Amino acid sequence: MNNSTSLQDAVTQRRTFAIISHPDAGKTTLTEKLLLYSGMILTAGMVKGRKGRKSATSDWMAMEQERGISITSSAMQFAYKDTIINVLDTPGHEDFSEDTYRTLTAADCAIMVIDASKGVEKQTRKLFEVCRLRQIPVLTLINKMDMPGRDPLELMHEVENVLQIHSSALNWPIGAGKDFQGVVDRTTNECIFFTKTSVGGAQKAEISRFPRNSPEVKAKIGAEEYEKLTQELDLLEIAGNPYSQDDFLAGKVTPVFFASALTNFGIEPFFDAFIHLAPCPHMRLANKFDGTEIEIDPVKQPFSGYVFKLQANMDRRHRDSMAFIRICSGRFDRDLIVKHSRLGKEVRLSRPHGMVAGERTTLDVAYPGDIIGVINPSLFAIGDTISMTGGFNFKPLPQFQPEIFAKLYPKDVGKRKAFDKGVLQLIEEGAIQMLKAYQGQELIFAAVGQLQFEVMQYRLKDEYGVETVLTPLPYQCSAWVRGDMKTFSKPSNALIVEDRQGNPMVLFSSQWEKQYCANQNPKHELVDVMV
Ligand code: G4P
Repeated sequence: MNNSTSLQDAVTQRRTFAIISHPDAGKTTLTEKLLLYSGMILTAGMVKGRKGRKSATSDWMAMEQERGISITSSAMQFAYKDTIINVLDTPGHEDFSEDTYRTLTAADCAIMVIDASKGVEKQTRKLFEVCRLRQIPVLTLINKMDMPGRDPLELMHEVENVLQIHSSALNWPIGAGKDFQGVVDRTTNECIFFTKTSVGGAQKAEISRFPRNSPEVKAKIGAEEYEKLTQELDLLEIAGNPYSQDDFLAGKVTPVFFASALTNFGIEPFFDAFIHLAPCPHMRLANKFDGTEIEIDPVKQPFSGYVFKLQANMDRRHRDSMAFIRICSGRFDRDLIVKHSRLGKEVRLSRPHGMVAGERTTLDVAYPGDIIGVINPSLFAIGDTISMTGGFNFKPLPQFQPEIFAKLYPKDVGKRKAFDKGVLQLIEEGAIQMLKAYQGQELIFAAVGQLQFEVMQYRLKDEYGVETVLTPLPYQCSAWVRGDMKTFSKPSNALIVEDRQGNPMVLFSSQWEKQYCANQNPKHELVDVMV
């Protein structure tokens, strides 16, 4: 994009989104296919040996290493047809951490990938809740239609029941499992058939299209399958939810697509629908210093953005950490001097990094929806707002219910001072949460993913020279408590603690115990996400 691109055009062109799913539903495969169909890579299916890889890297970093192309640990940008795509990395598996949640807040919409044989799984549910909380519209892709799976209608009902959102099928599968041949586009009433052109979907699948009631369709799928398809589509017409773009943007309905990311069947029509339906960067809410709410318009307001992720470099040779900033308004130019709300001073954003067309580059220009990475000489904390005008802060990032708890000590008591300093830094960066026994002094560290502890121990050793001993605690979930703690009745195995701001929390040994506690305390509210 050249420098003369108008801000309005740049905003209209952009789609900034994240893919949410449970591990193994096909997020990496879908990301690869997006690269394949955008022409970024010529062959897909190169990311092998993902499973069992134990490291602090995301699948994207594996792609980067194995394909020799440079992606990023946070976002990548490329062109797909007439749009500029910014796809945010939301690590799952053992890489799952609070960053995964926070990154989602930088997205304007999300693609929810569901495995057709498994339905809505745990991690998807948690990530979907963040979308709901932040009013991020969600498109649903029911993946792996080439495998024996569950009934499409049943899957749609599950989305509705478990996630409490209306679902509206915008396409419908023709056949399933080994007979999955294509999809019906319900908006055009066209049947789209696919033909494999390579093993494992390494190349684009060939497409042919026919009107649904054409003789070609009947000939291709046979009278019996045609009859079944007609009945299913008639049923959807009568009993299915209608699709409304306004309801989608308001988070009331999710458009549903069926596909197989591995074989590429249904994938290109899905991407085409996605760029059409997904919103471009839009208004974001912020608070002025006096507490009044204002709307930040991506085009009318000069440059503004906020830090959603800090990444310490795990490579000893580059000790700097990087702050990832989501641009919310205005055009960004290299070396821009901006106001840093929290510090109350001006900072120069020099050497901003971005991932454009697969290359880590120094960016000269960026627009709303884009992600820039700035080397962070301890200037930034998670949630910091920067802007040309100053005077406001974007809404704080939510804090998420931790699920893993531990005590941590320095191996050598003589290193206590360095340990305390390092721990404080990591907490301020948002790398880990710190809790305190209720009305006591004992410290407990808390995280949403195991990786957070691994990173913490690594960094304490690497950056502060402190070896640590970690003692896991037997709690599996938690909640903040709203209500009078004097009348709160705690299950015997649970522990009451306080977060850093002094808010009371309870740590539970099981989900069952949490539910029991909620039932026992009807006058109190148990809160999973602190906003
Ligand atoms: P994730 O990032 O969400 O964790 O999932 P990923 O894409 O890594 O996919 C998990 C497994 O599911 C992979 O197989 C992948 O090939 C397979 N898969 C993804 N999409 C589809 C699909 O549409 N149909 C079928 N049949 N399989 C699909 P794997 O054997 O674990 O890894 P690999 O050796 O194939 O890389």
